[in-house]
Amino acid sequence: MTRKLFVTTALPYANAAFHIGHMMEYIQADIWVRFQRMQRDAGEQRVVHFVGADDTHGTPIMIAAEKEGVTPQAFVAKIAAGRAQYLDGFHIAFDNWHSTDSQENVDLSQSIYRRLRDNGLIYTKTVDRFYDTAKGMFLADRNIKGECPVCHAKDQYGDNCEVCGAAYQPTELINPYSVFTGSTPILKPSEQYFFKLSDPRCFQFLKEWLNTPGRLQPEMVNKVSEWLGENGEKLADWDISRDAPYFGIPIPDAPGKFFYVWLDAPVGYLASLKNYFEKKGIDYEAFLNDPSAEQVHFIGKDIVSFHLLFWPAMLNFSGHPIIDKLKVNVHGHLTVNNEKMSKSRGTGISPLRYLELGMNPEWLRYYLAFKLNARVEDLDFTGEDFVARVNSDLIGKYVNIASRCAGFIAKRFDGKLASSLSDDAKGWIARALNGEVNGNLGERQANIAANFEAREFGKALREVMEVADVANRYVDENKPWILAKDETKTAELHDVCTAALILFRQLTILLSPVLPHVAARVRDFLGDDAYSWDDTQGERVYAPLLGSTIGAYSHLMQRVDAKMIEDLFDKPAPAEAAAAPAAPAADTAAAPATQASDIEELAPEISIDDFTRIDLRVAKIVNCEHVEGAGKLLRLTLDVGEGRYRNVFSGIKSAYQPEQLIGKLTVLVANLAPRKMKFGVSEGMVLCASAKDEKANPGLYLLEPVSGAQPGMRIR
Ligand code: 2FM
Ligand code: ZN
Repeated sequence: MTRKLFVTTALPYANAAFHIGHMMEYIQADIWVRFQRMQRDAGEQRVVHFVGADDTHGTPIMIAAEKEGVTPQAFVAKIAAGRAQYLDGFHIAFDNWHSTDSQENVDLSQSIYRRLRDNGLIYTKTVDRFYDTAKGMFLADRNIKGECPVCHAKDQYGDNCEVCGAAYQPTELINPYSVFTGSTPILKPSEQYFFKLSDPRCFQFLKEWLNTPGRLQPEMVNKVSEWLGENGEKLADWDISRDAPYFGIPIPDAPGKFFYVWLDAPVGYLASLKNYFEKKGIDYEAFLNDPSAEQVHFIGKDIVSFHLLFWPAMLNFSGHPIIDKLKVNVHGHLTVNNEKMSKSRGTGISPLRYLELGMNPEWLRYYLAFKLNARVEDLDFTGEDFVARVNSDLIGKYVNIASRCAGFIAKRFDGKLASSLSDDAKGWIARALNGEVNGNLGERQANIAANFEAREFGKALREVMEVADVANRYVDENKPWILAKDETKTAELHDVCTAALILFRQLTILLSPVLPHVAARVRDFLGDDAYSWDDTQGERVYAPLLGSTIGAYSHLMQRVDAKMIEDLFDKPAPAEAAAAPAAPAADTAAAPATQASDIEELAPEISIDDFTRIDLRVAKIVNCEHVEGAGKLLRLTLDVGEGRYRNVFSGIKSAYQPEQLIGKLTVLVANLAPRKMKFGVSEGMVLCASAKDEKANPGLYLLEPVSGAQPGMRIR
């Protein structure tokens, strides 16, 4: 049976341009969608509908439009018009982009509401709400400020205090005021519409739905189970109405009442699908009732309650059988240097600036994919790591294979590849693609596919890079540049370069969900049709290239220039920039904190040759332990990229607990003669900083390279 997938990302509020966090989610979903589109089910290409939309309703957008003196519709239209440059720029292949402020969404939201009402899951209740008499409107929690009832901090929002973190009702604020007029709001009774999540049917359904194996990430099942309580006692009813004036969808038979934005936002997924199907002539109702249809959402961890409580309940009790095939994939947030992004601190990254700087969107796609997994974990961006990962993997390992071999095929063989391969070459290809376990072929290809399917992109790409490592080893060992100098080795040269390009094509196919643009260029270069995952199997690995004539190779990707990274971040706001330590100008230099007399005298001058005799390497501390009977030593087990571990004793026990050091990188003097000690042989020395007078100032500070350095890299 052909799988039919309906895939979405969270619908972004139409009050601002995309930030880099949006792009991460879209890239994650886009890679998964592209992988799915390469699959076949019983010979049929898998069907994927990938749609998005702007989330347009609610008070903040209404107020932002008012400030600009335009209608909310005009305001969101302006934001929507700016979306394509981001989506196209990062090769995000949505089939459709729509809006929650659309006729489809009005019709679907109202129809879902009517069905919930007919099912006895809607009721009304009169509640007291804050009302700004000067502005003539009810106030949302975030439109009211006042003194925190817990810590008494001033100017805190109506729902929680940003100083002490307390959550409370707006009615608990001391001296509340309206953020619009500054006036004291009054409490005014208002009839509100509620969705009865506390109904036992909701608990029964949600419990079963959540616990269906394979539907949700285990950490999400645990979290949401807690929200349900043992018997559903924790499920509270949900206020789904807002009073006019409100930019939203009118509630049927309830004049002056509108759906709360979070009621109609997820319905926007269906509205975009319906709009797309109308354009394509596909039957919307038939699709939603098709047992082979699946609905898959990619969302961030901050909007889980809406997607794992309210939305499934809404779908189920409004008669959508696709609920049985609904999956929600939750990701963590993107941090920069392990901190939440902040424009004012200068750690924000604008996706448009990234593109304007001429940075390649596929660098970011690859970097994020390499860090993504299927868990709800935050993902960190650091500049050094980004540069190292992209340059090492994409340029040093992947593109390198083609650039080392394609020229020989063009120059020496008129662009024609060999029409058969030696057994040696075939053996290398099989070992590269499958891996080798105890002398037998492994299951690397199957693992790569399984990891893409399971959204374990980092794991998939690590295995793809292992294919690239073998391919590079093959080229290194066979040295086409040497073969090319010997007329008698022409057939060998042809064999090696053909085999290397076959592996390069395989790498391209495996990477094509992540690097679609590069893959398209490689297809042109190799004269291939669109890639499918079947092209990684059996004869299809070889047949399309053997004996074929390929085009001229042009360089596929530049290295990242580390200087670009400096310009990538938002400039810190002036106040914070002033607070940040800056290098003083020469003529105003204040006295440095450390006096010259504290500093050890410089050692006699050496030449660069003296320095290069010392081989300093990046080392990873894979283990660290106390040494019995040694007062000052720790035993370090170091990975210096040599395919074996080194044992090094270091006198740093006074400064570090072993567990503080495990996993860290440090610097090793790697060519120091091994020293036999009472406890074993020490194979090198790790470097520490210390003060001139170690007795008076006893700190020891192990050197640690900035993240991104790899074990074995030389320090120059
Ligand atoms: O948190 C947000 O950005 C919301 N606009 C997400 C909505 S997702 C869906 F429900 F529309
Ligand atoms: Zn407080």
